Amino acid sequence: MINKINTLGGYFHEYQKSTLDPESFWAQQAEFFFWRKRWQHVVQWEFKTPSIRWFDGGKLNITENIFEKNLYTHGDQTAIFWEPNDPNDAPRQYTYQELFHAVNQMANSLKREGISKGDTVIIYMPMVPELTIALLACARIGAIHSVVFAGFSAQALADRITNAEARLVLTADQGYRGNKVTPLKTVVDEALSQCQGVERVVVYQRAYVDVSMTPGRDVFWQEFISNASDDCVATEMDSEDPLFILYTSGSTGQPKGIVHSSGGYMVYSAYTFRNVFQYNNGDVYFCTADIGWITGHTYLVYGPLLNGAKIVMYEGVPTWPDAGRMWDIIAKYQVNQFYTAPTIIRSLLSMGNEYLLDKDLDSLKVIGTVGEPINEDAWHWVHDHVGQSQCPVVDTWWQTETGGVMISPIAGVTPTKPSFATLPLPGIQPVIIDNDGVEQTGNSVEGNLCIRYPWPGMARTIWRDHERFRQTYFANYENVYFAGDGVRRDEDGYYRILGRVDDVINVSGHRLGTAEIENAINEHPLVNESAVVGCPHAIKGQGIYAFVVCPQTSTGGEEGVKLSIKQGVNKRIGPIAKPDYIQIVSNLPKTRSGKIMRRILRKIAEGDASSLGDTSTLLDEQVIDEIIQGALVEV
Ligand code: WTA
Repeated sequence: MINKINTLGGYFHEYQKSTLDPESFWAQQAEFFFWRKRWQHVVQWEFKTPSIRWFDGGKLNITENIFEKNLYTHGDQTAIFWEPNDPNDAPRQYTYQELFHAVNQMANSLKREGISKGDTVIIYMPMVPELTIALLACARIGAIHSVVFAGFSAQALADRITNAEARLVLTADQGYRGNKVTPLKTVVDEALSQCQGVERVVVYQRAYVDVSMTPGRDVFWQEFISNASDDCVATEMDSEDPLFILYTSGSTGQPKGIVHSSGGYMVYSAYTFRNVFQYNNGDVYFCTADIGWITGHTYLVYGPLLNGAKIVMYEGVPTWPDAGRMWDIIAKYQVNQFYTAPTIIRSLLSMGNEYLLDKDLDSLKVIGTVGEPINEDAWHWVHDHVGQSQCPVVDTWWQTETGGVMISPIAGVTPTKPSFATLPLPGIQPVIIDNDGVEQTGNSVEGNLCIRYPWPGMARTIWRDHERFRQTYFANYENVYFAGDGVRRDEDGYYRILGRVDDVINVSGHRLGTAEIENAINEHPLVNESAVVGCPHAIKGQGIYAFVVCPQTSTGGEEGVKLSIKQGVNKRIGPIAKPDYIQIVSNLPKTRSGKIMRRILRKIAEGDASSLGDTSTLLDEQVIDEIIQGALVEV
């Protein structure tokens, strides 16, 4: 079993070992797994190019570590409890053995289709067990999966299909989320009319509704897997072969395809899952994240399944049919570890405590949060009311790029402090660097969060754009990974994440690049230009505030234009990127060299025009007065 830290002293001991001799530390963790061939080097790295290789020379398949390695001991144990959107529909369950067969059958079907090691497969599916099966089937045969969140638009999907060079798409007829139905197949059809290369679309029938099927290209899931054997020998992977690509937003318009490895990611996801959540065999673990995001990859699929965990996978949304749904699910499955996002906690908190009345939450042992800073109110509410002051709350800081949790309490071991991610996990060496590149040592300091040494779960590259990988994470400061977040280390050495320091905003825990949203707005025929910034939002954490230059508002008037801008963003990216505020302005504040002064717009959107800082480089200072007067929030 993976080493588990049980005491604070044990944590400090492991941490020290991991920094004094990282190679021995990680080799020891890797011993737990089944390698077809042992690695030759634990790690080889340099951050200049950068080149990062973990367990080089090792051969493995991650699914062999989920299945074959464990079937003798817990083949009959539940792997997935699946809870449907509608509480009146029948739930489903898979044991490890059953999941293994389903994965193999899909794997063989993909092979029959000609998909093999190194090919990319796009997965655009709702939260049904077949989504997990799809990921693992790809991993089984060495195909690189790229899951696209099922809330993304046709255009966003087409961009990702093109960038990933996928030949095959796995989707469903429809998805259910609360009282909404998403016509996934229709979105796929629209996406495929805008891109090339896809030869096969496999459609899982979730709703059994009529969908248009293109002859020769589209096939239903049942038909696709029919007659395929449920026995499939895993494809041998090199430790450094890519396991998956997951797209995320950066400061420029184009999403980045973050690439994760087979060996290092396996070790890191499993190690961090076991330790952060203090998972014990037999516990029931529930993660609310969609598999379309990294949290779903690492802590709903790979981390838990590598540990033989029993997971609860939920199809719907937290507030449907009412705001007690999460608590019903916890009671129904007697959930022990509950991993969710601050935005969900805030939205449930805002609906009042009555939804918690009479709910049996006694099984809970650990509550985790991820995705954005958790404010103190939300922390206290979840700690006092959901955890009944009995459960440690682990505020876990990490990113798509880091592969797994980096800074977080170890549940029940690390003393917590509301809104603090507390201390780094073993193997993780955070450093704080100011804007001039000077490291801030000691406690009570603040600056840019960087990491000094590689860790097995870190991303290896951006798909087909290694130079962008270098520039984004390794070029700002020498010899460290730059996370893009601001951080404070307090007087006790505890870390508090302060939020992004780049042009990325975090809406309900979803990362969006402001440039991405601006591009979508600028496609509107009446818009000349725009600037997007984040603004405080009680539930979402950050909302989206767009300043738009739009000289003619045509027949629909201002409101008509705003509505069509929102529709445009919805179509280009998806509903999560729709602005909360659109302010039509005659001009944007620009420097003489033509650069938009976002700092000023950010302040206005935050409702604070009292300290705009130096505005002397502005071309036209008057424009600021106009923007403040027309502001849509109280300034
Ligand atoms: C933010 C999600 C504060 C942060 C796993 C980071 C957090 C970005 C926390 C990554 C936390 C994530 N406290 N901020 N506990 N967790 N973030 O790639 O800004 O979707 O850079 O990965 O979310 O978002 P991503």
